[in-house]
Amino acid sequence: MPDRTPYIAANWKMHKTVAEAVAFVDALLPRIAATQHDVVLCPPFTALGAVVERRYGTAVRVAAQNMHEEEQGAFTGEISAPMLVELDVDAVVLGHSERRRLLGETDEALARKVPAALAAGLEPILCVGESEEERDAGQTEAVLERQLQADLAGVGSTDLAGVVIAYEPVWAIGTGRTATPEQAEEAIAFIRDVVRGRGGAAEELRILYGGSVKPDNAAELLGREEIDGALVGGAGLEPDSFSEIVEAAG
Ligand code: PGA
Repeated sequence: MPDRTPYIAANWKMHKTVAEAVAFVDALLPRIAATQHDVVLCPPFTALGAVVERRYGTAVRVAAQNMHEEEQGAFTGEISAPMLVELDVDAVVLGHSERRRLLGETDEALARKVPAALAAGLEPILCVGESEEERDAGQTEAVLERQLQADLAGVGSTDLAGVVIAYEPVWAIGTGRTATPEQAEEAIAFIRDVVRGRGGAAEELRILYGGSVKPDNAAELLGREEIDGALVGGAGLEPDSFSEIVEAAG
């Protein structure tokens, strides 16, 4: 792999109270003490502050799972980038397929969220991916291209390398069906080409795979040249399975 530090993130979705989140961090830290990889935890909003506090002095980074594009305003229930920065959050997941499918997230909003995160000093983890129908119809690349061009429209070429992209085929999320390493690598190489086409430093860009990553398939996926890390859902909820995935990254 070129000089790209492996990036392993656990997306907890709507799981874990503050107490459960803190217990996870305490159990995880000794298991990953020796790692040189970027290890990122994505707790729900309520547990962000506690996880940030607990990870001080360690290499663990913390990401929110969403944010609003405006800095403040009459947007009941929303959280802005400056609010995350104040908590010392490092990154933010944007455009997860659950938000796109179930919670009305649009490419139009993402086109504003990605630059807003960068401007605030948060690392965006932008998720893209095709549905099963789109893959079966041979539209995978067209879908990825459309999402990337729309969501990155407001990001200048010099800022592109600061975005982490997660390739998450919707049919592989929470289903137990994993993309084959070939499928994942092919899609990720295509994503890198799209970023290169936008003038970005594509070789520096970290592009993750997400979708039913588990300890028993992680080494095969993460061993691939193009796959720079993983966005882990279910297997990221337990310190044992998550630390095994961190180790599998080499
Ligand atoms: P999963 O979720 O690992 O449970 O499939 C991945 C994700 O949603 O990021």
